[in-house]
Amino acid sequence: MTYQPSLDHARRRDEADPLRSFRERFALPRDERGTPTLFLCGHSLGLMPLAARTIIGEELDDWSRLAVLGHEHARRPWIPYHENLTAGLVHLTGARATEVIAMNSLTVNIHLMLASFFRPTGKRTKILIETGAFSSDRHAVTSQLQWHGLDPTQHLIELTPPPGSDSIPEDTIEACLAEHGPEIALLLWPGVQFRTGQAFDLHRIAHAGHLAGCVVGFDLAHSIGNMRLALHDSDADFAVWCSYKYLNAGPGAIGGCFVHERHLASSEDPWASQPHLMGWWGHEEPTRFRMEPHFRPAPGIAAWQISNPPILAAAPLLASLEIFQQARIDRLRAKSIELTGFLEFLIGRFKPDAEFITPREVDARGCQISIRIGGPSARGRRVFERLGERGVVCDWRDPNVIRVAPVPLYNTFEEVFRFSEHLAEVLREIP
Ligand SMILES: Cc1ncc(COP(=O)(O)O)c(C=O)c1O
Repeated sequence: MTYQPSLDHARRRDEADPLRSFRERFALPRDERGTPTLFLCGHSLGLMPLAARTIIGEELDDWSRLAVLGHEHARRPWIPYHENLTAGLVHLTGARATEVIAMNSLTVNIHLMLASFFRPTGKRTKILIETGAFSSDRHAVTSQLQWHGLDPTQHLIELTPPPGSDSIPEDTIEACLAEHGPEIALLLWPGVQFRTGQAFDLHRIAHAGHLAGCVVGFDLAHSIGNMRLALHDSDADFAVWCSYKYLNAGPGAIGGCFVHERHLASSEDPWASQPHLMGWWGHEEPTRFRMEPHFRPAPGIAAWQISNPPILAAAPLLASLEIFQQARIDRLRAKSIELTGFLEFLIGRFKPDAEFITPREVDARGCQISIRIGGPSARGRRVFERLGERGVVCDWRDPNVIRVAPVPLYNTFEEVFRFSEHLAEVLREIP
């Protein structure tokens, strides 16, 4: 791919972009004067699909019109609401329909999956995560260890990048598993690391984990809607995600889970699944409202549901998944590679003032580029704040990293170019 550092070039790329019309389907944020901001923060909270307002309005309308009857008679009946979301999740995750479900939120789902899959026995009592894992993931695994009476200082292994590197190559994970495998019960790994933007080869990690006899789970918060996923084929045991980043389903939107079908019950033996925590919503739908004491599991991962779903937090996900199904994740990923490649090309000229900590290999990153600003941490922070004053919305991670993500559904080459111009000027203003 050849790029030129010019506005004309960026505009030509936008004109040639077959996905450019999808931008019109999102609410583009503005500052208090009404000027559009330069939004490059979809890795944190994606933009609102305009259809979200309509679809939430429809749910409110059904609620006001039908009250309790909406459970069965809403235009999208609320009882089986999660089923509306399955096709979109299948498309994005590469899972089978029985393996994915929208439910709860991310950390809650980590706990539910660990309740099922973290079964320390004998010498196999440890959990492997990365050093610098997202705080909530670390809190979840630490508390799960404690829940089992295990001391996290002894039973949590945190894998650090090799000296001088911000990334953890897959062979470092493999080496760790080869060395400590017999003690590791479970590994919880990100699909894309939130700080560095490093994308991992999930198939390779799952294979290495299984070879070592471990359960393998993935946190796909920064992967879903960003990378092409093939969860079923990757052979992961479970995966979890949130829907408010690249999935654009809004703050606190309903999250999701994957459990590989080998852990799910079959129709012949509905009790053959991995043990899981239970609630009435995991009970099979035809007999749920008989309220009998005996639990009959719903088919597939639906048995993992506990509570009835938050319709108003699920409706925007439906709006968003429809857009993804029309745009198609393979086309989005192809555009993303170009868009982020353009960003990399433009920012690459600002060394050593701006260095990447995101891998340069296309397969080892998604939309996001994490930029370390040269000089003291205070300089990086000022650069970030000055960008904000210029209407650039990106985010900051201590001690010196600015994260930027052009999102192929709604960002343009022109925006990437304008960001690079802002950054160049700000780096000059703050030497
Ligand atoms: C990797 C990761 N884990 C956990 C969380 C926490 O998510 P929630 O508040 O939905 O539990 C986030 C949120 O951004 C995240 O990015």
